[in-house]
Amino acid sequence: QAQKFEPWIKAHELTAKLYHHVLTQTEQGKEAYRYLQERGFSDEAIVRFQLGFAPDSWEFLSSFLQKRGFNHRDIVDCGLVAERSFDGKLFDRFRGRLMFPLWDKDGRVVGFSGRVLGDGEPKYLNSPESALFNKQELLYAFHYARPKMRKKNEAVLFEGFADVISAYEAGIEYTIAAMGTALSERQAKILRRNVDRVTLCYDSDDAGMNAAYKNAQTLTSAGLNVEIALLPEGYDPDDFIQQVGADRFKNDVLDTSFTFMAFKMRYYRRGKNLQHETERMEYLNQVLDEISHLPRAVERDHYIRQLADEFSLSLDALKQELTQRYKARL
Ligand code: CTP
Ligand code: MN
Ligand code: MN
Ligand code: MN
Ligand code: MN
Repeated sequence: QAQKFEPWIKAHELTAKLYHHVLTQTEQGKEAYRYLQERGFSDEAIVRFQLGFAPDSWEFLSSFLQKRGFNHRDIVDCGLVAERSFDGKLFDRFRGRLMFPLWDKDGRVVGFSGRVLGDGEPKYLNSPESALFNKQELLYAFHYARPKMRKKNEAVLFEGFADVISAYEAGIEYTIAAMGTALSERQAKILRRNVDRVTLCYDSDDAGMNAAYKNAQTLTSAGLNVEIALLPEGYDPDDFIQQVGADRFKNDVLDTSFTFMAFKMRYYRRGKNLQHETERMEYLNQVLDEISHLPRAVERDHYIRQLADEFSLSLDALKQELTQRYKARL
């Protein structure tokens, strides 16, 4: 089985080297290289993450791979190049993009994600899924992070590649990213085999908040302790590290992460005006419902007291609310 994919892996490894060479050693790569410098990525990080540039050409990679003796079928099936439907002619899938190699758990290159320089759609273009590249399974930079996360017994999960790279620049190496905001049960299980705790650190927009809620659930179900680190509105981890700084990222974001329940309290608060009575009641209902699902009495007590304090409510009334919810479920 592994034998069969040997040429696919070879083609990917070679392509990563080629794109990296273009980025770092050629005139064609200058603009992309400057773009990375402006984003604050060091040469060391560019090498470590094997960042590259795919020239804006229809045949740069396809002709290179063919000259290197790879056969037509392999380089199409492994997803590196595409095939024109009406005559089977090969053409490059990635053109004029900044290239991020994607590694499997053992650090072999099995796919790519290409980012446009500046604005454009799609922002990231990914390799198609194949027998080697499975989005549901891949965790970006897992092979680098694995020893660190095992040692710390914790992983930090981001949305994006740039977040992982900036965290590395900040000296935080137990970090990985799924391919965006979607997190599968498979990925949660892989993390569970390596650590007891995952800290989710997603972009502070609606997509990030919603994904944090959903993925915290998935990770909890996989048996992980989950914490959620929140960024100020308008930032993602990469922005925050680059613009505000590594120390504040560690102290004010990672080290002040929230439990899932404390996160939910903030999550339901978003977009509500709690001065407004109807919205305040809606908020209390949502939070009480969540509290009533907490398995431990100590935890329930803790959050009930928090609500009582914040909204000047009696503990008795809140406890009655919980009891009513239990009865309704019987
Ligand atoms: N993503 C994707 N396809 C897109 C947009 C995003 O696959 N069209 C994935 C990528 O893995 C990306 C992640 O989702 O890294 C997070 O998306 P986003 O927050 O939009 O990108 P950033 O990582 O912040 O990228 P950048 O900082 O370069 O803008
Ligand atoms: Mn995002
Ligand atoms: Mn982002
Ligand atoms: Mn970003
Ligand atoms: Mn922590």
